[in-house]
Amino acid sequence: MGNSLFSTLNNKARKFKKSSSSKSKDHHYTRPNEQQQLQYYLPNNVKDTDIMVINHFLSRYLFQSIFSAPIQDKLSREDYKILDVGCGPGTWLLELATVNKSPKYYGIDLFPIYPSEIKPDNVEFRQGDVLKGLPYSDNTFDYVHQGNMLSVFTFEEWHSVIQELIRVCKPGGYIEFTEPELATNTGPILTRFYDALIILSESRNVKIRISKDIIKILELSSSVKNVDYKISTVSLGTKRGGNAGQAYMEVHDGYFLNDPMPETMCKFMGLSQEDYKNLFDDAKNEVENGVGPDCDIYRIWCQKAE
Ligand SMILES: C[S@@+](CC[C@H](N)C(=O)[O-])C[C@H]1O[C@@H](n2cnc3c(N)ncnc32)[C@H](O)[C@@H]1O
Repeated sequence: MGNSLFSTLNNKARKFKKSSSSKSKDHHYTRPNEQQQLQYYLPNNVKDTDIMVINHFLSRYLFQSIFSAPIQDKLSREDYKILDVGCGPGTWLLELATVNKSPKYYGIDLFPIYPSEIKPDNVEFRQGDVLKGLPYSDNTFDYVHQGNMLSVFTFEEWHSVIQELIRVCKPGGYIEFTEPELATNTGPILTRFYDALIILSESRNVKIRISKDIIKILELSSSVKNVDYKISTVSLGTKRGGNAGQAYMEVHDGYFLNDPMPETMCKFMGLSQEDYKNLFDDAKNEVENGVGPDCDIYRIWCQKAE
């Protein structure tokens, strides 16, 4: 993208930030829950829950496992404790608990969209905000997992969230992240959406391509060792990506088309909701007609120093 277009978008982001923050001061049109949901771009309605479930199974297929840290031989221990932060509907934990019945499983999320009654006895969910501190003592868990939070935290918050995950992990225990990266080899139409998303996110201090920074933060931390990662790549769309690419397209659709993303993006891109949806269809046609970008999914893990 040319520099002048980039600076026009940046100026737009500054104006957008200004007008949206003054709006929230002047108008009391959002209930507290909605306000909280606007802190990040993936709300927790049924459609989004479906997307999280598709994403979970896609990640399992791509990596042939739902975790990559070397913990397999520990999963038969009854004293093994596993925590999933931002657990959403609990899909990741519930699958692990179904296959490995011995450990104790804990899930925490800002919103209680996890099952409250129909779940195995050794799985416990609770509501909580990792940014306010996890409600667990230091050195509680053997393995701490967190996935798909790329648009949730600001860059500064990532530092404190990582510290918090390390705090609750036992020395010698593992901490693991799964995060997708926004592709770079996109065609011109999809690039418009990605550029708008990147600049809008930056206006909230959110760095959308966060995986390499997670690796850097961990490598610089003296509290952890053995930082490692794996990348699995899926081509967006059926033409190059086959069934996996189609599943990723559904996740991608959900990200850009489920509320409240279209409203925010439309305002920023200067499009009506209808034009936004039509342009997104054009972007999908562009993908299916040959410019299917490669999307990297990162699994990053490390061990808490003893
Ligand atoms: C994109 S979803 C990912 C859910 C799940 N980890 C997955 O991979 O399917 C992000 C989740 O993070 C939760 N979340 C957002 N901010 C949070 C916070 N500050 N503390 C705990 N959970 C949070 C959201 O409610 C949502 O369920």
